Amino acid sequence: MCGIVGYIGDGSARGIILDGLKKLEYRGYDSAGIALHAGDKIEVRKKQGRISNLEEFIANDPVDSTLGVGHTRWATHGAPSDINSHPHCNGDSTIAVVHNGIVENYVELREWLIKEHGVKFLSETDTEVIAQLIGVCYRGDLLDAVYEAVEKMRGAYAIGVIAAGEPDKIVAVRKSSPLIVGLGQGCNFIASDIPALLRHVKDIYLIENNETVVLTRDQVTIYDKERKEVKRDVFHVTWSAEAAEKEGYPHFMLKEIHEQPGGIEETLTRRLSPEGMIKLDGISLTRKELERFNRIYIVACGTAYHAGLVGKYAIEKFARLPVEVDVASEFRYRDPLVDEKTLFIAISQSGETLDTLEALRDAKSKGARILSVVNVVGSSVARESDDVFYTWAGPEIAVASTKAYTTQLICMYLIALHMGLERGALPMEEYKRILQELLALPDKLRKLLETEPDIREIAWELFLYNKNDVFFIGRGNDAGVAYEGSLKLKEISYINSFAIAAGELKHGTIALIEPGTPVIALATQDALYEKMLSNIQEVKARGAYVVGLAKEGNQEIGKRGNANRVVYIPRCPDEITPVLAVVPLQLLAYYIAKFRDCDIDKPKNLAKSVTVE
Ligand code: M6R
Repeated sequence: MCGIVGYIGDGSARGIILDGLKKLEYRGYDSAGIALHAGDKIEVRKKQGRISNLEEFIANDPVDSTLGVGHTRWATHGAPSDINSHPHCNGDSTIAVVHNGIVENYVELREWLIKEHGVKFLSETDTEVIAQLIGVCYRGDLLDAVYEAVEKMRGAYAIGVIAAGEPDKIVAVRKSSPLIVGLGQGCNFIASDIPALLRHVKDIYLIENNETVVLTRDQVTIYDKERKEVKRDVFHVTWSAEAAEKEGYPHFMLKEIHEQPGGIEETLTRRLSPEGMIKLDGISLTRKELERFNRIYIVACGTAYHAGLVGKYAIEKFARLPVEVDVASEFRYRDPLVDEKTLFIAISQSGETLDTLEALRDAKSKGARILSVVNVVGSSVARESDDVFYTWAGPEIAVASTKAYTTQLICMYLIALHMGLERGALPMEEYKRILQELLALPDKLRKLLETEPDIREIAWELFLYNKNDVFFIGRGNDAGVAYEGSLKLKEISYINSFAIAAGELKHGTIALIEPGTPVIALATQDALYEKMLSNIQEVKARGAYVVGLAKEGNQEIGKRGNANRVVYIPRCPDEITPVLAVVPLQLLAYYIAKFRDCDIDKPKNLAKSVTVE
């Protein structure tokens, strides 16, 4: 959560930082601020609300410089307000800090600073504690002061610091929260994520945990915890700046929904050999390795967790290995049975979700082998895993995850098929057949996207219905997709929605179905179709308004008083329908949110990358 940007060079720090912050707004957007080195002072401008508020504010009180740091906030300590916005300064405003993460011992440090140094605090934030602490440690050398302060701080954070007395320097530290350095000509940058820098640089350093960086206009020096200099290879980014733009779409979410066929194609083809076999390129999942594992955990959060639910079905079906799926925030604290016979699969779009990262670290420390499915190349999850399976979805900017989910599913299928073949649980013929079906998905998805006007119409009906509760039901693979559809709807439209395995309805939840209650019923599994028709009848009998989802050719769902409206998806094997089934649900959520006039790409209270526990 939160995004930080820093710039040192000859250009306008204000413009460059504000532009970078806009690209990071997905990480938090309840307030924003900027600290610029001007003359021998630090000038801070900060404002509650979106970056556009800050821009307006600065336009009325302009300041410019060639060195500065900026921040876009997702509040953790203290409500969103002008005062609590970053950057924060020490007492005489000679040090300014931007911060992403949490300082866990900030109460203790705050009391110590008040008692021992008479510090007066203005805000409720943990970040002000960092600024004041560095201020107290400062004796003319910013790097010394930062090292001294960091020694006293506990938690997970990335910080960027400037000092009034040092007009030629930014010092930044990474402890768990993401931090990259952009390498320019006569200028250098820090940022929380790549999109902030794409317009200016493609060469970056990925800063590792517990490293400190000093940036001047012409030089970047990385130090480890003991302050020994560290050499780092340059990482060249291949994403274009346009990939992080809306390109004519009204929202990133809609653009990203439409990018799914391409993302799936890319994810598939990068993993297929000319002979049509899955190539793992160094990923150790050989027959021998697989024999070693007696347990697989898939661990993730939110949408990525929902991809894990489908992954479990695929691995159990194709590879006949038992799999447990867990939300990362629970996994860590339930003392799971992890040892060197465990394969731990982490799924994460950002690769920076702290719950997932900490669960991974925990499993690793207990000897598990770590395989991750990640979108952001070089992210923490990717770097700390033994093996990485990248989803080639390109940058996902909308807070609501869409193309990351479908490409995560593709990776899970490839992993499951490979495991199945290696273990001898899946005949070659079946392996090839499913692979062919996967390769046919992008075109089927393009065809499905042509039904967007129909889905928009259904969304309009549901919007007019104006109900505050929506239910999603499904069986087997459809249950996993129902959870994802429900999450999409609630996070962007703020409608309370609830997903449940359809067979479980009658054990309690059906009590909530009343005349007119909208129920989205997923019936895409041929093997469970008849059973789903019965479940639809059960809710219809209680007056529900049913929107059904079925495979083309399965017409009964729309007959005999079943669903009120039906969306048909192209035919494909039951195991891989989630890739198609989720798309109408994404569009439904998108249009309902649009009709409700919601801020689709930046829903309230959320952030794209959740780097706090
Ligand atoms: O970056 P990650 O995939 O690790 O993020 C996990 C969740 O925070 C994320 O999927 C979240 O649930 C999405 N906003 C849902 O659309």
